[in-house]
Amino acid sequence: MEQYLNKGIKEVIDQYPEVEKILDEYGIGCGPCSVGICELKDIVDIHNLPAEQEQELMQKIAGIIYPGQDIIIPSGKKKVPAEGGEIKYSPPMKQLVDEHVLIKRWLALIPAVVKNLDLESDEGRQLILDGIDLIRSYADRYHHAKEEDILFKYFDEKSEILQVMYEDHTTGRGHVKAMLEALDRKDEATLGEQLSAYRELLTEHIKKEDEILYPWMDRNLSTSQVGELFAKFSEVDEKMGFSPDKYEQFVVKLEQQFPK
Ligand SMILES: [Fe+2]
Ligand SMILES: [Fe+2]
Repeated sequence: MEQYLNKGIKEVIDQYPEVEKILDEYGIGCGPCSVGICELKDIVDIHNLPAEQEQELMQKIAGIIYPGQDIIIPSGKKKVPAEGGEIKYSPPMKQLVDEHVLIKRWLALIPAVVKNLDLESDEGRQLILDGIDLIRSYADRYHHAKEEDILFKYFDEKSEILQVMYEDHTTGRGHVKAMLEALDRKDEATLGEQLSAYRELLTEHIKKEDEILYPWMDRNLSTSQVGELFAKFSEVDEKMGFSPDKYEQFVVKLEQQFPK
């Protein structure tokens, strides 16, 4: 079993396609992950299943790889179980999760915004400019910069999981560039496509961070590193030179304009 634990998940799935279905049963979706070359043991560690579920999952996988054989599953190092399914974050990680909330509220509004696009009026164009400003200033320059310039530096930036995160940030910046170009040309179709693509990308990205990346990072950071992170994030907050209030107000206004 050890040799399979050290193999890339894509390789294991290629050899034993049923493993993907088993992982799916435990909410581990390696299929949609754009890289998918994490080792099997990392996947089990990153997803932090309760001990019994982890054993059960590994037994099922062993049953596929070694049918009819009695396989001893190495018991993983024990981690703090999530209580009642709710993820407990360290204070700096909680800050990042909280920042995601405003971004998610804006993402939730995008379908209504796309449906009501009006690039002929000043007001309609301003709405898009304000939305792009939220993405560039708040989501990217402020939030993603905290991740890329501070948090990710505590980990191996060449690791697959971080490569996926960097790739998502870069793809998002590409969508923003295309949005601005479409806005200039008053090309509503392209602008709508780019906004929707950004929404899809960031929705998945935030889910990966909230549910997988941050909890895994928290388990691997020492107490002093957590303290250091908190101090560094506070420094960014002090220097950021803008108040998130205006983005909050923008979102509240749109929520009233397009109620669910
Ligand atoms: Fe991110
Ligand atoms: Fe994030």
